[in-house]
Amino acid sequence: MKRIGVLTSGGDAPGMNAAVRAVVRTGLHEEWQVFGIRRGYEGLISGEMIPLSARDVGGIMQQGGTMLGTARCPEFETGQGQQKALGACERTDIDALVVIGGGGSQCGAYALAQTGFPVVGVASTIDNDVYGTEVSIGVDTALNIALEAIDRLKVTASSLKRAFLVEVMGRKCGYLALMAGIAGGAEVIVIPEFETDPEEVATELRAAYERGKAHALVVVAEGCRYNAERMTAFFQENRERLGFQLRVTTLGHVQRGGVPTAFDRLLATRLGSAATDALARGAHGVMMGLQRGEIAATPLADVASKQKQLDESLLKLSGVLAA
Ligand code: ADP
Ligand code: F6P
Repeated sequence: MKRIGVLTSGGDAPGMNAAVRAVVRTGLHEEWQVFGIRRGYEGLISGEMIPLSARDVGGIMQQGGTMLGTARCPEFETGQGQQKALGACERTDIDALVVIGGGGSQCGAYALAQTGFPVVGVASTIDNDVYGTEVSIGVDTALNIALEAIDRLKVTASSLKRAFLVEVMGRKCGYLALMAGIAGGAEVIVIPEFETDPEEVATELRAAYERGKAHALVVVAEGCRYNAERMTAFFQENRERLGFQLRVTTLGHVQRGGVPTAFDRLLATRLGSAATDALARGAHGVMMGLQRGEIAATPLADVASKQKQLDESLLKLSGVLAA
């Protein structure tokens, strides 16, 4: 019988639980034993592993977060930490791992894979910055939360003819800001990949008022040089000259804690199951993601070394549609 481990690592993302459930039940279907590893690579290093039954993962699909817990574990980034983790797997007879997490976690998975240990990754982060998948688990839920906030802010902005700025998460990636901005009808979107300076933002907002708009909304990604804090400082310092000020909302971790949407539950289920199927076929050293609507495997070596590109044409489109 095969004994596999599953862990969730990095920032929690809505849908991680559905992925854990799929790994466990697909593994049990293969007549394997499946172990849940607590708190990501931290639990892997310290050997915190619990056998999971089909019932143990019942009722978790509807919940955000991760039943296994997660962590950011600097020790695992060292060769010594990785050796400790391999030692714990050896002691507990775990002979393969499924790693559910974002780009950093997949780099960790690659580090293990390079030692010859069988690992399969599952792309899961609200940032959508992982190479090898069009969309990762949690993005859809986080996007919908950001969008709901933007819709609400627009209502009050229009009533008072005010300018608002909303900062969304995404680390160094502008995907969430770009998509939330387009779907929410923002006047200006500022993302790290194609920075807009504050003077330009002010010009765009003034132009929006001049075109007769009742509101002016900026969506900014947290990873921008001019994030919410710096952009607000600029508008505050130049308040007299610009003739208006910005009201600011930073969405922060609210975006991560949502109930997973149907899309995220289904994506997580398919990816978790596909990762386990891959191990059953003897395939490993890959990450499961979505490509052209299909589940596809990408070598972890590529995931760890390549940069996912953002579609610049969507930013141009957002400018056209903000007319
Ligand atoms: P995410 O997986 O959501 O991108 P992080 O970037 O914080 O989140 O990564 C999660 C964990 O993955 C880190 O705390 C660390 O344990 C591990 N990790 C990140 N980068 C590497 C790396 N280059 N090599 C080995 N492990 C890594
Ligand atoms: O990677 C997911 C994410 O939510 C990023 O969008 C954000 O920059 C980061 O995690 C926040 O990390 P923490 O939860 O450790 O504050």
